[in-house]
Amino acid sequence: MDKTLFYANLTKFSNILLSNNTDLPAFIFNSKIYVEGIRKSLSQVEHYCVKGSRILDLGCGTGFLTMQLSSLDFVVDGVDVEQSPETIREFVKKKGLQSKVWSALKNDSASFQFYDGVNLPFDKQQFDAVMAHAVVEHIPLNVINQVFQEIQRVLKPGGYFFIFRTPRNQAVMEHVARFLGMGSHDELMGEQELISLLEKNGFEVVSFRRTDMVFSVLPGRLQNVWNLFSPVLIIVDEILLKTPLNYFAHHMQILSLKLNRSAVQKL
Ligand SMILES: C[S@@+](CC[C@H](N)C(=O)[O-])C[C@H]1O[C@@H](n2cnc3c(N)ncnc32)[C@H](O)[C@@H]1O
Repeated sequence: MDKTLFYANLTKFSNILLSNNTDLPAFIFNSKIYVEGIRKSLSQVEHYCVKGSRILDLGCGTGFLTMQLSSLDFVVDGVDVEQSPETIREFVKKKGLQSKVWSALKNDSASFQFYDGVNLPFDKQQFDAVMAHAVVEHIPLNVINQVFQEIQRVLKPGGYFFIFRTPRNQAVMEHVARFLGMGSHDELMGEQELISLLEKNGFEVVSFRRTDMVFSVLPGRLQNVWNLFSPVLIIVDEILLKTPLNYFAHHMQILSLKLNRSAVQKL
């Protein structure tokens, strides 16, 4: 995705947050490495989807990625769960904030709604692609098969399912972050586990990548220092990902597509 457009959208988004008495750091969007990672993920969607495609942003959170995708001439629906244990902390703290931010981001090609966390409020075969950025690890394991089947249902045959930034259970950083009390995830999936889950639910994996070798988010003022070094850190990250050390990478990125068959394999 073009840098100028992406960062102009970030400035607009930042102004919307400020007019609602909150700011980028509350949503970790002040981390340059994190934000640049989002831009790269959106570039993947842009690469695979033709203009005008309808895309579902599953677990859209603030709606920042929904907004970015809609600026790329996609028609985007953002959905999220209201007030679940997984709701972003800032939204729990400031009641109504999520809806306010969504209202400000809404336009002809970006709409938002809450749903129950399992049953997607759309008819079958409506979407060319579904994107889940930093979401799969937040879906409770007891409903994850149902959610994947719902994604199957709303996708057109051959539609794409993009999974970005899902932590791996081999990720050293998850364990370090947990040890330091810096925020980690309880339910970590292995690579094969997630791939099997996709296949079991009728998806074919097209590509798989490990991502993120260096920390993107640090506490307090350390973040500003880290941001200063971000151009170098991003290069270091890319180099490390090409070495066997990538076994310890933080996240995985999977592109799969809905198999062109009507019956989904029995679970
Ligand atoms: C870390 S946030 C990511 C938000 C956004 N995708 C982003 O990258 O900025 C995780 C989001 O997943 C949402 N979530 C949790 N369970 C979900 C479910 N069953 N279906 C959809 N979203 C869910 C949470 O409410 C939260 O907004």
